Amino acid sequence: MEMLKNERDENEMVNPNWIKLPGLVDVHVHLRVPGGEHKEDFRSGTAAALVGGITQVMAMPNTNPPLTDLDTWRHYQEQAEWEGLCPVYLYCGATMASLEQLTMLGRIAKALKIYLDPTYGQLKVDNEEDLLHIAQAWPRDKVLSLHAEGDNIRMGIRVSEKLERPVHFCHVSRKDEIEWIATAKRDGLPVTCEVTPHHLFLTQADAQRLGPLGDMRPRLAEQRDVEGLWDRIGSTIDIVATDHAPHTLSEKSAAQNPPPGVPGLESALPLMLTAVAEGRLSMARLKALMYDNPRRIFNLPEQADTWVEVDPEESYTFPDHPLYTKCGWSPYDGMQMQGRIKRVVLDGKEVVKNGIIQ
Ligand code: DOR
Ligand code: ZN
Ligand code: ZN
Repeated sequence: MEMLKNERDENEMVNPNWIKLPGLVDVHVHLRVPGGEHKEDFRSGTAAALVGGITQVMAMPNTNPPLTDLDTWRHYQEQAEWEGLCPVYLYCGATMASLEQLTMLGRIAKALKIYLDPTYGQLKVDNEEDLLHIAQAWPRDKVLSLHAEGDNIRMGIRVSEKLERPVHFCHVSRKDEIEWIATAKRDGLPVTCEVTPHHLFLTQADAQRLGPLGDMRPRLAEQRDVEGLWDRIGSTIDIVATDHAPHTLSEKSAAQNPPPGVPGLESALPLMLTAVAEGRLSMARLKALMYDNPRRIFNLPEQADTWVEVDPEESYTFPDHPLYTKCGWSPYDGMQMQGRIKRVVLDGKEVVKNGIIQ
């Protein structure tokens, strides 16, 4: 993060108030390949990432089929490398039935995702004993990420303690939950966690207003939970990750069981810049949450000649650009934001200018 000086194109106006951030990292996205390509694919999902200032993503394994065996994982990881506009790292998933696959997957995948609560897709691990088996089959130096809500967070903390191994908690959404994790950290356990922008900016009141467009897992919480998360933004919370979970508008408006999830890649940085403008966190903390910590925890490479230029002063109504996610909607439509992404450079090439992929 530095003021822009000489690195800019000679023929462009240098605005000394713009800020340069490194290309950001999102460790929690759903790109829907395979099986949900009408919702998102590697190309559309990475376009949405880039326009949002995110230049590396980690994509979840709750696809159809899920990414629980070596051959399937490898096939789609290769496809992501061909089709993605920026680096995509696929998680692998696991169930008790696929346990033996983890020996090989543990050598090549960066992280394992386990679902302890029912959500979109079929992946689920049912009890602590099974979680212990799976966690023991996964390398200690690679991330074990949990979708865990309520008491299942306590189960994850116990597993970290029993096995003396790192455990990462996805999308923590309640005050009590973040306090349990704060206590576990204070006790010296190697636990880490992420929160989503939607749990920082929306409450149950928004869920009422938005209907199915405000439904996701974990569900939106109460104002006291949102405040409880903001209280920990400078300490316990390691990462802001989107849980970008696109579903089409027609799927979301289905009368029976609309799928949970909201898109987030294009709104995460604008929302966090708005919070910086409001004095809720510093720009340095934003960079820690969206770049330094995710890169360190997930062991992701540094990207040379890759950065994001933002104008922290500019206010606008979101979205300020055509949405690149295939689902085509955002729960923040019409929201006033401050802090605008002006330009994204990836591998030395200008890939986004004023909200348009170049
Ligand atoms: O709301 C959610 N949607 N939560 C999840 O855990 C999964 C995700 C999805 O894949 O749509
Ligand atoms: Zn989840
Ligand atoms: Zn998710």
